[in-house]
Amino acid sequence: MANNHMLRNVIFLVFVLFSKVIWGTDLKKFPLLMPDINPYKDEFYVCTPIKIVSDKNFYIVGFEPNATMNVVHHMLLFGCTTPGSDSSYWDCGEMAESESDGKLQKATPCNSGNHVIYAWARNAKPLKLPKDVGFLVGKDSPIKYLVLQIHYSKKFPDSRTDNSGLFLLYTQRPQSKLAAVLLLAAGGRIPPKAVTFMDVECKINENKVIYPIAYRTHTHSLGRVVSGYRVTRDEMDVDHWHLLGKRDPLTPQMFYPVFDRTPIRQGDKVAARCTMDSSSRNRFTEVGPTNNDEMCNFYLLVYVEYGTPLEMTSCYDMGPPNTSWETDQLNNIPEAEASSPFK
Ligand SMILES: *[C@@H]1O[C@H](CO)[C@@H](O)[C@H](O)[C@H]1NC(C)=O
Ligand SMILES: *[C@@H]1O[C@H](CO)[C@@H](O)[C@H](O)[C@H]1NC(C)=O
Repeated sequence: MANNHMLRNVIFLVFVLFSKVIWGTDLKKFPLLMPDINPYKDEFYVCTPIKIVSDKNFYIVGFEPNATMNVVHHMLLFGCTTPGSDSSYWDCGEMAESESDGKLQKATPCNSGNHVIYAWARNAKPLKLPKDVGFLVGKDSPIKYLVLQIHYSKKFPDSRTDNSGLFLLYTQRPQSKLAAVLLLAAGGRIPPKAVTFMDVECKINENKVIYPIAYRTHTHSLGRVVSGYRVTRDEMDVDHWHLLGKRDPLTPQMFYPVFDRTPIRQGDKVAARCTMDSSSRNRFTEVGPTNNDEMCNFYLLVYVEYGTPLEMTSCYDMGPPNTSWETDQLNNIPEAEASSPFK
């Protein structure tokens, strides 16, 4: 325990001491890099945490990847209330088998308060949030730790180590517009030999206006198309569907700019559909974390003009066969657009 405790303090000090002040601004750069990891097996998922100084607020305003696709398949940055482990790194494969391999402790990225705040794949460029927009972490945020997950697809041939990761651009100067990620997720069961829609929707009940910036889709291997919408209802009770983003989820799963930046207001709905193709599978597929299971996720990166982000950070529907956009009482559904591969 003492060692773990010290380690966390060291990591926390690092946040203050080794941050470089960028010339001419109050922006600083924090290196969140893997601590000399040797990827000793294929499909290796590893997590490393930093503890954020707990009595100060920090605003993350950009992400500079420090990785190449030859080595790194993808990176995800999680904001956590508590991290999955107290170690300086651990095995955190979402898709990996649930057993530890005996070499490294196995745990999820976060133990509580899980928020994906950044994703990188396929040599994506640095991401800079719009002016005055930042992710609040630290004192007044549920995000007390940041956990970097890297997926190395191939094991290294020898004992060489790796320091891939990202540089966080951050400032202590309060940013007026706070960023957040809203996760839409469907559950359910996918029958064999069929194409199945997994639908999720939820209403914005809070008196806030949210501005969409970017989206990310996530499924496992059965996903063909994931689409996300802002849905508004007119006086005649007709729903109008505005496409926020649509992708083949098997393309690199990073954040892409939304198609429509119109703000989402109280009373509007957000909805997502995953079109899953199980035509070459002879068994039912459940929602779950392993390679044998599926997921249906649509992440929406948003900000608010003032005040705090939505209290709602995710919305979930039971999915097939129990719920769908129809059973959720949505109408005027753009069936063809929502489930066909291109815009
Ligand atoms: C990442 O950053 C470190 C330190 O700045 C650098 O030495 C290393 O080459 C970088 N790695 C990649 C893959 O860019
Ligand atoms: C559908 O609903 C029933 C009744 O609530 C429940 O028992 C079943 O597990 C649900 N199916 C799925 C796939 O969620």
